[in-house]
Amino acid sequence: MTQETAQLIVDGKTYTLPVVESTTGERAIDIRSLRQQSGYITLDSGYMNTGSCQSTITYLDGDQGILRYRGYDIADLAANCVFIEVAYLLLTGELPTAKELDRFKYDMTRYALIHEDMIHFFDHFPPNSSPMSILSTMVGTLHDFYPEMDQEEDPYGGITTTTARLLSKVRTIAAFSYKKNIGHPLVYPRPDLSYCANFLNMMFDRPNMPYRVEPIAVIALNKLLILHADHEQNCSTSTVRLVGSAGVGLYPCISAGVNALWGPSHGGANVAVMRMLETIRRDGRDYDKYIAKAKDPNDPYRLTGFGHRVYKTYDPRAKLIKEICTAVLDTLQVDDPLLEIAQELEYRVSQDDYFVSRNLYPNVDFYSGIIYRALGIPTNMFTVMFALGRLPGWIAHWQEMNSDKDSSRIGRPRQVYRGLVNRPFVRLEDR
Ligand code: CMC
Repeated sequence: MTQETAQLIVDGKTYTLPVVESTTGERAIDIRSLRQQSGYITLDSGYMNTGSCQSTITYLDGDQGILRYRGYDIADLAANCVFIEVAYLLLTGELPTAKELDRFKYDMTRYALIHEDMIHFFDHFPPNSSPMSILSTMVGTLHDFYPEMDQEEDPYGGITTTTARLLSKVRTIAAFSYKKNIGHPLVYPRPDLSYCANFLNMMFDRPNMPYRVEPIAVIALNKLLILHADHEQNCSTSTVRLVGSAGVGLYPCISAGVNALWGPSHGGANVAVMRMLETIRRDGRDYDKYIAKAKDPNDPYRLTGFGHRVYKTYDPRAKLIKEICTAVLDTLQVDDPLLEIAQELEYRVSQDDYFVSRNLYPNVDFYSGIIYRALGIPTNMFTVMFALGRLPGWIAHWQEMNSDKDSSRIGRPRQVYRGLVNRPFVRLEDR
């Protein structure tokens, strides 16, 4: 809280509200006492300008294109760390020492299996079920197979057994959901493989065709997961916090986060981008047609993979993902026409005043799908990949929310009621 205050004048009356300052100097008017003082509430649909909590996890400056986890720039983390190192950072606030990282890696191996009874659940999903619905269901059932413990025996640096289990098992569930989807036998996690290599092996190893884990695939996957690991109060993270504020445990909150992420305006955009690029390809690369549709105010069509609520400049994640994309395709010698189409579309958009004036640049989802495709990951798994990356961020926010008395109050927005006020009841026979 600063000494500064804000004055709100309504109907000639002045209300004084405290001002809160962030560590980077951003200021917020604390309106919590406004209703008590004045009877007024604030209206902010879509939370365009509402801070829902105070947080120490991720710093984002949408005007400058800055994204930092616990103070570290994402470019440095993506260049120098593996995913679980960054997960540790998000969860505990510090990068692990070599010893702590070893322990965390050991936990990822130790908890990688899922209860065999859970495997029967996979059998009863209809063919072609969405891996996202499978993921959210299976995460929910972890609550019953691995009950959360009130008192942890040996938490280290803030990593609880429940957290470590969740991080490790979600990876296994994600890979198993793919194997079940294509009807292949499950491949169990191996103790000799790293987090990302293990995931790729569980996805692609087959009894008749052993999989060789390509180093570039492991590097790319680590970077992609790091770049998706947190993004402060986005839709799915806010969902995790809101559901958690009702007092439920970690698993149901993460399951809710997975469902929120699924939407095409959020994590599901990476699937929609591939469909859009495919459509443009099939339509003879008629870029003008799709750009015109996106600009037409009477057409709901949008160029997916462009625009962001908070970035008014190039999304820093997209910049790094674009670099990884080129490196992966070059190393694996993949010639994907969709990359060329994506690059051309980006170029045309960058020359078009409609997009420039609205600050619409590629976002995190624009190039990621092309990398996943080069790694052999099918389109219906793309949002699952996003979920795998976002998991440590969701958990960190859930932990932070629970450790802070103020943000753990039950989330309960108000509304401006615009319906009919008081109607005399009409009996069935008189209607
Ligand atoms: N194509 C064409 N026009 C667009 C687009 C787009 N992709 N995005 C925004 N606009 C226009 C929009 O029509 C509006 O124009 P006008 O001022 O004339 O009405 C203006 O730009 C502002 O758009 P908005 O909908 O008010 O912006 P928002 O902050 O509510 O929405 C967004 C942000 C990401 C939902 C939106 O840009 C969008 O729908 N993008 C495409 C979907 C997408 O790629 N989503 C992934 C987001 S990144 C992953 C994540 O972090 O979840």
